[in-house]
Amino acid sequence: MASSLSETPWWEAVDHRPLALRMPWPSLEGKRCLDIGTAAGFWAFEMERRGAADVLATDLATPFARSARNRLEQVREEIGSRVRYEERGVFELEGEFDFAFMGYVLQMVTDPIGALESVRRVSKQLLLLDTVSLPLAFLPSPLARLEARRDGREWFVFNPRGMRKVVELAGWTVEAQTGILREHIPQARTDWRYITGVRSRSCAILARA
Ligand SMILES: C[S@@+](CC[C@H](N)C(=O)[O-])C[C@H]1O[C@@H](n2cnc3c(N)ncnc32)[C@H](O)[C@@H]1O
Repeated sequence: MASSLSETPWWEAVDHRPLALRMPWPSLEGKRCLDIGTAAGFWAFEMERRGAADVLATDLATPFARSARNRLEQVREEIGSRVRYEERGVFELEGEFDFAFMGYVLQMVTDPIGALESVRRVSKQLLLLDTVSLPLAFLPSPLARLEARRDGREWFVFNPRGMRKVVELAGWTVEAQTGILREHIPQARTDWRYITGVRSRSCAILARA
């Protein structure tokens, strides 16, 4: 499975491969894995590539998620993947998992602590990846900026200390945290907000329940 996946275009919709290399992955060999807010499935396929025994990709029943799911299904066919899919939000998770991945979902919920508690009820381990505020990273406190953009897509964007704190407040024990990671997105070359880091900076945390 690993070699055939690595030769396929499963990363084309969103290419997080440079970011994936810098994340604190545990061994996923033989594990039951969950991808929350999967969109086109980049992280679900990445977990399968890393040897997961089973991967369940989940997302909301929204027009965006359904359109992204079409891409996921197409790629799954092309590469012969066994990734499963369920329409399910982070507050409606069910089952038992060894490992959960949550990429850029925390910033999209109005109750980030509740979301992380919900994941802890179903998974033994979590790898959380989310946007962080670079300006707030220079302050020595756990902080969040209230983003509350009018399109309702982002609510709280933490600084790295704040992200760690919110994970701990939800009952997780942090095992590893990255420094500030730069996202690899097309706008990063031309838009000043991406160049300066006002946007497109992330942080990842590995935690156990
Ligand atoms: C910025 S996209 C990230 C997609 C993918 N995880 C990635 O890293 O490329 C955010 C995703 O979170 C999903 N999402 C938003 N609110 C959610 C919720 N309450 N529960 C689960 N997923 C949610 C969206 O549908 C979308 O697919």
